[in-house]
Amino acid sequence: MFETLAVAPPDPILGLIEAFQNDSRAIKINLGVGVYQDEQGGTPILASVKEAERRILVGETTKSYLGIGGHPTYGQLVQQLILGADEQAVRAGRAATLQAPGGTGALRVAADFLHQMFPGTRVWCSQPTWANHQAIFQAAGLETATYAYFAAERNALDFEAMLADLNHAQTGDVVLLHACCHNPTGIDPSPKQWQRIADLVAAHRLLPLVDFAYQGFGDGLQEDAAGLRTLVRSGCELLVASSFSKNFGLYRERVGALTVVAGTPGQAEAAGSQLQRAIRANYSNPPAHGAAIVQTVLEDAELRPQWETEVAAMRGRIQSMRRLLVDTMRGQGVPRDFSFLREQRGMFSFSGLSPEQADELRQRHAIYMVRSGRINVAGITPANVGRLCAAIAQVL
Ligand code: LMR
Repeated sequence: MFETLAVAPPDPILGLIEAFQNDSRAIKINLGVGVYQDEQGGTPILASVKEAERRILVGETTKSYLGIGGHPTYGQLVQQLILGADEQAVRAGRAATLQAPGGTGALRVAADFLHQMFPGTRVWCSQPTWANHQAIFQAAGLETATYAYFAAERNALDFEAMLADLNHAQTGDVVLLHACCHNPTGIDPSPKQWQRIADLVAAHRLLPLVDFAYQGFGDGLQEDAAGLRTLVRSGCELLVASSFSKNFGLYRERVGALTVVAGTPGQAEAAGSQLQRAIRANYSNPPAHGAAIVQTVLEDAELRPQWETEVAAMRGRIQSMRRLLVDTMRGQGVPRDFSFLREQRGMFSFSGLSPEQADELRQRHAIYMVRSGRINVAGITPANVGRLCAAIAQVL
């Protein structure tokens, strides 16, 4: 059978990891995969995470299975972090949270659940969106559609076009929204725009599926949840796929969650139980270690503020690299205005560079970015920004 198979192309994002590692040029710069890097270009383990791991190593007594939905305390802590402890939906028991292997695992569980429970559901994704979104939904058998999002000529959100497209969605369709730090553009709706999205969702009876992978990387842990909370407060049912890859730096531990917010506690319980069936048929039950770290940190009066400070430091470095990049471009007389990079949020920005220019940067300058022109701002350091800007000037 296998002689009929062709070799699959490398993944447009994760394929860059291997290509970067195999590049022997010492001057190489990694602006590819969305992983935080410090001033030295490393991705160290957070101190709060290391301490939590030490405590887990000493205190754990079994490696027996977790429940299908993970540890209930973990679920509660995640729910309070993303929705807010005082949120009416949380206090009323209208939300259920299940542990998942990363944000991607949560998205796949959501997709399987939607396909099984609501066959024919269409998922609307922003144009552009994270390169893996459509693949996840299509692998689960769901149909996808796109809505306008990015006005390239203005480097801004094309909000009226977005609403116009979503007006064509049918009752029961799913609309995938990025809670903050939109991947790949770095452009998020304003608070007023979130309210209009919530109104449209309610008017058309759509189901938001909110991808929340970068909480704390935009304006703050609470601030970044504002759009999601607007949807919840306006009474929408919704699903949230959240991740601790970035804000806990737990990438390879695969830790995230899927939360459902329903109209009543009974409906949340029913939806949660159907989600558990989808999990059981997929990977049975989740891995324990990453979630135990998150739980240990979020429950602890010392570790939690330490972690919040560490998140603030990562956010602050990314914001300062945005400013440094814009200033260095201007200082070097790069013939294009990049000031829009300063206004964007999170790790990513759309640089406006073409796939051919991205190829040239990789081949001639050992600078790696996704071919769409997406750059990971967290890969910039004071030491490499000068060479980066000079190389961009050359390819322009
Ligand atoms: C990214 O967009 O670079 C990250 O979310 C990593 C991934 O899995 O693609």
